[in-house]
Amino acid sequence: MTDDRIILGIESSCDDTAAAVVRGRPGAANVLSSVVMGQAELHAAFGGVVPEIAARAHVEKLDIAVERALTEAEVGLNALDAIAVTAGPGLIGGVLSGVMLAKGLAAATGLPLIGVNHLAGHALTPRLTAGLEFPYLLLLVSGGHCQFLVVHGPTEFSRIGGTIDDAPGEAFDKAARLLGLPQPGGPSVEATARAGDPGRFTLPRPLLDRPGCDMSFSGLKTALLRARDSVVAAQGGLHAADQADLAAAFQAAVTDILTEKSRRALDHYAALGPARPAFAVAGGVAANGPIRAALQALCAQGGTEFVAPPLALCTDNGAMIAYAGLERAALGLADDMTLAARPRWPLDEASPAMLGSGRKGAKA
Ligand code: KG4
Ligand code: ZN
Repeated sequence: MTDDRIILGIESSCDDTAAAVVRGRPGAANVLSSVVMGQAELHAAFGGVVPEIAARAHVEKLDIAVERALTEAEVGLNALDAIAVTAGPGLIGGVLSGVMLAKGLAAATGLPLIGVNHLAGHALTPRLTAGLEFPYLLLLVSGGHCQFLVVHGPTEFSRIGGTIDDAPGEAFDKAARLLGLPQPGGPSVEATARAGDPGRFTLPRPLLDRPGCDMSFSGLKTALLRARDSVVAAQGGLHAADQADLAAAFQAAVTDILTEKSRRALDHYAALGPARPAFAVAGGVAANGPIRAALQALCAQGGTEFVAPPLALCTDNGAMIAYAGLERAALGLADDMTLAARPRWPLDEASPAMLGSGRKGAKA
């Protein structure tokens, strides 16, 4: 097709150095390559992402990721139609590294430069993986973000609720730390919880008693700390079975909060009268099996289509940035050398800023 485009996407806003090539048009695109170089081992000793270490690692790895992505896609720079890059929100050193590389490539090749909002990358992924049509309801749940968005179009999002403190991924990471499990916490808590009894400990479900779609996760972490300390005080340590039961109780509480608030968000979205109601999840926490299953069951009850991208496209990657760039290119949108790296960049600029401070700095 003549309106197909080939876009390179570059992502470096947190602790993954990623590049990918996507080809196609809005709602009908394929991932030709997707290279993600994680940094978990660099940050392991610190119990969280250290921004300076992350930025240095991005500088070292970005061009390797881009070269690999082009090689795996079997396309040269001359075959590209544009270069898309995450321009925020995120850890500023990392975002800057990506934006500078993209500017260099654009200057050298003469290709259009497209700055992409990282959150738009996650939010548009269901169109890349499932060709989902606008509008749809999206739950974006990651290490730095948690919000319900109605996605009206490639650049049009309205936020109808979100976390007032921690993001769920951040809460999973803290829970892992409390239980002595490795980072990133989500996958290790999920794996440990498989052997656990979610009923042995009762953890709170904050804000479920209040109307609306806002959520809170910081009290849950404190409750987990107390439950852990009471076990340690009673028996002098934490056995594998205790770890598993605590992990299962924590995961069950997060699942309940996300499911109940999703039910309310779906009611809100249904009031807009979408022709074919659809609910999508995106972001790293959307990789969680029990959370996906609970949201799928919720949608099945109400006859709503449910879309959860494959796990590798839930967590940070370059393909979502390339695809979001493709959507912008199709609208004729492009940036120039004044493109700025932004630590904060809310998707819905009209909604009031959220409180709290996440893994990637202040909530966008
Ligand atoms: O989207 P993402 O890769 O980066 C951000 O933009 O934040 O999300 C990373 C977050 C981490 O906090 C990680 O613990 C969480 O997603 N995560 C999970 C799972 N896999 C990753 N949380 C729960 N269950 C998982 N299986
Ligand atoms: Zn992300």
